[in-house]
Amino acid sequence: MTNLHAHGEVPVTDGELVAEASAQVAGAVSLDALAVVEGELLGRKSPLAARQKTLGALDPDARREAGQELQAVRGQIEALVAARRAVLEETAYAERLAADRLDLTEVLEGDPPWRGHLHLVQRTRDELEDVFAGMGFAVAEGPEVETDWYNFEALNMPPAHPARGMWDTLYLNLGEPETVVLRTHTSPVQIRLMQSQAPPVYAVMPGRCYRRDTPDARHIPTFNQIEGLVVDRGISFADLAGTIETFTTAYFGAGIHSRLRPSYFPFTEPSAEYEITCTICGGAGCRTCSHTGWIELGGCGMVDPAVFAAVGLDDETWSGFAFGFGIDRCAQMRHEIPDMRVLLENDVRLLRQI
Ligand code: FA5
Repeated sequence: MTNLHAHGEVPVTDGELVAEASAQVAGAVSLDALAVVEGELLGRKSPLAARQKTLGALDPDARREAGQELQAVRGQIEALVAARRAVLEETAYAERLAADRLDLTEVLEGDPPWRGHLHLVQRTRDELEDVFAGMGFAVAEGPEVETDWYNFEALNMPPAHPARGMWDTLYLNLGEPETVVLRTHTSPVQIRLMQSQAPPVYAVMPGRCYRRDTPDARHIPTFNQIEGLVVDRGISFADLAGTIETFTTAYFGAGIHSRLRPSYFPFTEPSAEYEITCTICGGAGCRTCSHTGWIELGGCGMVDPAVFAAVGLDDETWSGFAFGFGIDRCAQMRHEIPDMRVLLENDVRLLRQI
């Protein structure tokens, strides 16, 4: 082993120097600590630098030889530092990843881990589809952005018809003013379905609707309906009433009473409101049902001849009924939720319960 500094101020061999440097480098537990160690081993005040200065006193041959050895030692120490830095950088990266990790299965409160589930409204929609599928209905969908013709005109509401005031419509800034709307109900899907398939039709059509309604215990501006349409020969109001009764028992259970009350919709004649006993108060009257004891779930009636005319169907041959129920309203009544607005608030304390 060559003694680099036979006459120098640091009396160690290069082997010892590398061994000591190796121990120091290995002892650096962070990138910052390693930077300090690197300065001590290779910087201007390092033993290596001190040795460098002694080279000038040597004769040329000895200087070249000593210089090469010094470079070799520097190279070894630099390699040690680089290897350690690579290890520490990898560790730091892994630590950063661990700290940033978003654990989607994280336990919010208590045990066992909560894995989340579909939102109540989506589940209600699925359940309603299942009930109607079990009763022989197909499922269809239509667009949420509609033309005035589908949302109103084809449903027997020509422009300026007063019944349009029953829906607080949101118009889109597209085309001619007031020609494109966020659909106010799922009834336009009836029209699309009758245009696309010949009778008989037995279908339900779930989907989102929009109205400029002020939110309250029973209303939200973005809500969901499930439309029903039956078109066949010899369909009567008794078929409608029987279908609604079957649905009520299948979905809400035998303990819930329902009633049909005469009403008005331009696209059905006769028309009715479908109501069930308010599940919040059991019919006694409360804030949710405006102290009536009943909650309106939807409208229904026999398809108006004007609607058949709009889609080119002969009302002498065909008859039918239609209904439109609020899905959020069904969820609210089935799960006894006094205020519908909570369905939009996304409070996990509520979402975990339902
Ligand atoms: C209609 O929308 C008719 N298209 C229903 C219909 C279909 C009648 C087919 C005849 C034949 P209405 O505006 O009453 O009707 O709404 C029906 C149901 O949608 C309501 O009973 C309620 O359950 C639900 N609904 C209406 N507006 C809201 C709202 N802002 N928030 C939550 N649910 C609503």
